Amino acid sequence: MTKTKSIFICQTCGYKSVKWAGKCPDCNEWNTIAEELESDRPASQTFPIFDEIKTSEPKPLSEIGAEEAARVKTGINEFDRILGGGLVGGSAVLIGGSPGIGKSTLLLQISNFLADSGVKVLYVSGEESTSQTKLRAERIGTRSSNLYIVNETNIELIMEYIKKLSPQTVIIDSIQVLFRPDISSSPGSVSQVRECGSALVFLAKKMNISVFMIGHVTKEGVLAGPRLLEHMVDTVLYFEGESHTSFRILRAFKNRFGSTNEIGVFEMTTNGLVEIANPSSIFLNERPKSVSGSVVVPTIEGSRPILVEIQALVTPTSLTVPRRQAQGLDYNRVSLLAAVLEKRLGFNLKTCDVFVNVAGGIRVNEPAVDLGISLAIISNLKEKPVQASDVIIGEIGLGGEVRGVTQLGTRLNEVARLGFKRAVVPKINLKDSSRKSPIEVIGVSTVKEAVDIML
Ligand code: TYD
Ligand code: MG
Repeated sequence: MTKTKSIFICQTCGYKSVKWAGKCPDCNEWNTIAEELESDRPASQTFPIFDEIKTSEPKPLSEIGAEEAARVKTGINEFDRILGGGLVGGSAVLIGGSPGIGKSTLLLQISNFLADSGVKVLYVSGEESTSQTKLRAERIGTRSSNLYIVNETNIELIMEYIKKLSPQTVIIDSIQVLFRPDISSSPGSVSQVRECGSALVFLAKKMNISVFMIGHVTKEGVLAGPRLLEHMVDTVLYFEGESHTSFRILRAFKNRFGSTNEIGVFEMTTNGLVEIANPSSIFLNERPKSVSGSVVVPTIEGSRPILVEIQALVTPTSLTVPRRQAQGLDYNRVSLLAAVLEKRLGFNLKTCDVFVNVAGGIRVNEPAVDLGISLAIISNLKEKPVQASDVIIGEIGLGGEVRGVTQLGTRLNEVARLGFKRAVVPKINLKDSSRKSPIEVIGVSTVKEAVDIML
């Protein structure tokens, strides 16, 4: 017999308390604490399938074979790269993203590739009926007999199916609709997501089944339901993109088996997602020629260089506090750079609204794009375009000095490959690169020098 007890849980961070509070003491969010009934039965005793698990004795590391960490190719190169070279058996992967971004499509395509290569896959579709999934599958051309689909949200039954079918990969679409019938709170609540999530992770580890869980993301960009799911799984991927463009970016946020910050670029077509091996050319495709405020920056995403266009618009403000707006960039960074340009270079931005944007819907987080942002702002302010064949890279300090960046060589190779002629880079980086660059490289140590050269 299971005992249940009443407990108050923050729906955002999973903080537990015996009494209700208006504000969560852990994550400081208001009105997120709700009452739930908790079962005190641990995950390992919940489902009959777990009875079959053999206890594993400790053994010396040297006796553990490499095949236990072997990777399976998913058939989508971009996806394999993000995972760190393929899917690790027995791993639990969480894929988050806003509704309609293409999570179900991506996982159905992956299921299809895996099934085609002989892996038995169970796709648990809790949100769509099996015939809806079939329609989607026809659209992307799925036909393997190794791919099993079931429409179910009760985790006890799902565990039964897994026991009967013994698949090597299980896809859960989505974790927020699953429920354990012995817990009274509704699907998507912290208790349900945590209990179902931990049972699935347990299943992955103990039975060596790769489990993919789809998770919805709220407007603020965090996983709906508890963040604690992110701690449980091995890999957390986020599927991002602007709904009005067809480009999608899959980003590794956490990865126990590979590097984070790795991204994969896809395009949503009428026949499913197609990987884009050469993203730089896509992001620069619609770049206007000879327009002020547009600058190309070679940024690094994970292990690969991507050229992006940064655009700035500086207009006279009608507000007492001028606006600073950033899309695809860190807002605070843009405000800080505007302040540096104001104080160190004497540009009058106090009376101007500043809008900065990365074209193509991609997000760039590294400080190495500082110089690009600053040049785009100054270029638009002075109404002077930078040369179409120029690129710029460098981090800016509060003194207006240009600081070094990592992987300059990789960035310059990509710049040269795409036909750019000149790069303005941090002077300090030129000391250690004795190698000959295929394009003209100019070192600068202050923002002012960069402005004098490029504008
Ligand atoms: P979907 O995978 O259902 O998104 P999610 O599971 O993240 O909510 O994708 C939904 C969108 O993708 C929908 O607007 C239709 C579009 N789509 C295509 O453009 N081409 C396709 O081949 C498929 C299957 C979907
Ligand atoms: Mg879906």
